[in-house]
Amino acid sequence: MNILVTGGAGYIGSGLLIKLGERFPRATITSLDNLEKGDYHYVKHLRNDRRYHLLVGDIRKKADVRKAIPQDTVTIMHLGAIPGIGPCREQPKKAIDTNIYGTHLLLEEAVKRNVKRFIFVSSAAVYGIPKQRPITEEHPLKPINLYGVTKLSGEKLVNAYYANNGLTTTILRFSNVYGMGAYTRWKTVIPKFVWQATNDQPLTIRADGKQQRNFVHVQDIVDAFVQCSKTSKKAVAGETFNLGGESLSISQIANIVIKEGQQKLGKKISKVHVPLEPDEVYTSEFDYSSKRASEKIGYKRKRKVAQSISELFDFALKLKANACS
Ligand SMILES: NC(=O)c1ccc[n+]([C@@H]2O[C@H](COP(=O)([O-])OP(=O)(O)OC[C@H]3O[C@@H](n4cnc5c(N)ncnc54)[C@H](O)[C@@H]3O)[C@@H](O)[C@H]2O)c1
Repeated sequence: MNILVTGGAGYIGSGLLIKLGERFPRATITSLDNLEKGDYHYVKHLRNDRRYHLLVGDIRKKADVRKAIPQDTVTIMHLGAIPGIGPCREQPKKAIDTNIYGTHLLLEEAVKRNVKRFIFVSSAAVYGIPKQRPITEEHPLKPINLYGVTKLSGEKLVNAYYANNGLTTTILRFSNVYGMGAYTRWKTVIPKFVWQATNDQPLTIRADGKQQRNFVHVQDIVDAFVQCSKTSKKAVAGETFNLGGESLSISQIANIVIKEGQQKLGKKISKVHVPLEPDEVYTSEFDYSSKRASEKIGYKRKRKVAQSISELFDFALKLKANACS
């Protein structure tokens, strides 16, 4: 049996490739990534493992998609995307082509190849400004930025293929993913603050910092894919699950980074306030419920933000020391 991961060279996808190899030792695992952002360098050891096929190709190209779905493909885990509010704002056509048209091509080929399961990665951005607490899967879907719109469009396509083509589909809506992966990106707020602190820069807090976000560890996300794949098709078919973790304000995150950083670095860490991005949600409460995922796929949040910040500091310090030596 083959499992296809799109975006397998990316932050979440590369950790997923490793985990799938551990948990499904008899499967072959194919990754399709155009290396727009990701890099197979971080999983280069997998090249020596005959179970892995690390393809360079584009989900917007039919020939590449076909090549990535051999006849024995049982599951597609679709992570490849232009992720995030900023990247979608800056490259709207590419975001629409990749996140919507690319998803359509994969769904088409999945049906033709009789793929058993299709897991689509979506985002809490589909909800827009929170209107109810907690945010469950039933919360109104009113994205306020192009990223959320493309993810919601992808979801609608997925649901249409579930309803009309007999494809077993599941949608996973992640909140903000953080933590050390197979490779760690330093751009999202938690790693960015750690990076700034380690490199003698002030922490850049958007707006007054009272806005809340929900943070989920990358390894908890990777585990959830495995749990979802192992749950009966009946229980997950046509389902949508929120996958979240701890809700904290940006100021709370900054305070944890400052406390931990001052201990580890032995020096004072400062902060500055910068404007909010134009299409970013500002909300003082972002209470994200993963109850349905806990009940149906046994999803558990195991990792904690404070512990992860400490690990990120150790890693950032190691990288800095290596760069200086
Ligand atoms: N990181 C988060 O906080 C977060 C939160 C919610 C949802 N998500 C979703 O999770 C998924 C993975 O995100 P990530 O954080 O690992 O981002 P990432 O940028 O590290 O990974 C995305 C991967 O997709 C690849 N890609 C982009 N366009 C492609 C194309 N046309 N064809 C093939 N590959 C292509 C990139 O090269 C990259 O390796 C995305 O769908 C993203 O929207 C991420």
